[in-house]
Amino acid sequence: MADQYAHDEARDEPFRTPVIRWEESPGGPVLTLLDQTRLPAEEVRLVCADVPALVRAIQTLAVRGAPLLGIAGAYGVALAAARGRDVEEAAVLLERSRPTAVNLAYGVRLAADAWRAAAGKGAERAAGAALTAARELHRRDAEASSAMAGHGLALLDELLPGGGGHRILTHCNTGALVSGGEGTAFAVALAAHRAGRLRGLWVDETRPLLQGARLTAYEAARNGLPYTLLTDNAAGSLFTAGEVDAVLIGADRIAADGSVANKVGSYPLAVLAKYHRVPFVVVAPTTTIDPGTADGASIVVEQRPGREVTEPPGVGGGLVVAPPGTRAYNPAFDVTPPELVTAIVTEEGVLSPVTGGGIAALCARSRQV
Ligand code: MRU
Repeated sequence: MADQYAHDEARDEPFRTPVIRWEESPGGPVLTLLDQTRLPAEEVRLVCADVPALVRAIQTLAVRGAPLLGIAGAYGVALAAARGRDVEEAAVLLERSRPTAVNLAYGVRLAADAWRAAAGKGAERAAGAALTAARELHRRDAEASSAMAGHGLALLDELLPGGGGHRILTHCNTGALVSGGEGTAFAVALAAHRAGRLRGLWVDETRPLLQGARLTAYEAARNGLPYTLLTDNAAGSLFTAGEVDAVLIGADRIAADGSVANKVGSYPLAVLAKYHRVPFVVVAPTTTIDPGTADGASIVVEQRPGREVTEPPGVGGGLVVAPPGTRAYNPAFDVTPPELVTAIVTEEGVLSPVTGGGIAALCARSRQV
């Protein structure tokens, strides 16, 4: 059993199958993934022996969530190198597989740069350098996760004094399924739970692919959190009833001006939170900040097939919820402007208020720039 969790002896994995793992097999190295499309029904391991298989896994959301996409992208470059494939071509394919989460490009470039820097020392050494870079990113992400949990809990305690415990609303999935560690926003809720300060976690189901219902509820249940699932459009009535103390979400890309791209449905929550004077807190590692994207309007938002809305795959095979031929609008993300964000929590600490200057200073401090 111990060898099943080779990359992360340091923590207690809440899943029977590792979320992501580099493995040696008789046919050469492979990347194994916990197939997130099959959760919560079953924990199935997906084996990627080449980059096209990994690209498919990324595009079908078998592997997903910004930090994990970065780790997967880095391992993907290492896989191409270890198997003697065209590393430059693999890097382009991986980087283009999903456009919004900047962590993916970050991870791919990190491993590709390491490979290039060692290219003069022979193919084996260069492949080893790419794998070392991927493992290092994986390890750093786990560290960032626990630092964010600590900073995030301290912020909650400061924003929400009083002994009754925090009632947190979250959207999409931001836990161990998306990270080398325990995640981003979910890791903060988990820390609050462990400290006896989580009164309840409201989990948005997250249409159309149900990352909240299928994945966050799954993680919450496995960790013993007090949680309640709601349809996305029920959030407004919860705010009206005064049942939400804070909103905690992750991010896929944070622009230089502090605009935050995250799972579609995040922006309406930010508007609700502002109206109801509830803190709206974004939790993301500094690898999610993209100083090269000037503002929210410059963030490329992935458009997904309309069929995910008319025949939602997460709802069960073959269920059709709209008449044949119905066109559907299906952006995977939306963008929240900085003035609606109370704070951004990274492994470096808490940024509040969220301003372009603050983001620039954060980038200068972090390892990223
Ligand atoms: O389309 P997905 O499932 O990859 O979207 C994931 C999200 O939007 C998460 O909230 C985001 O990546 C932050 S995860 C720490």
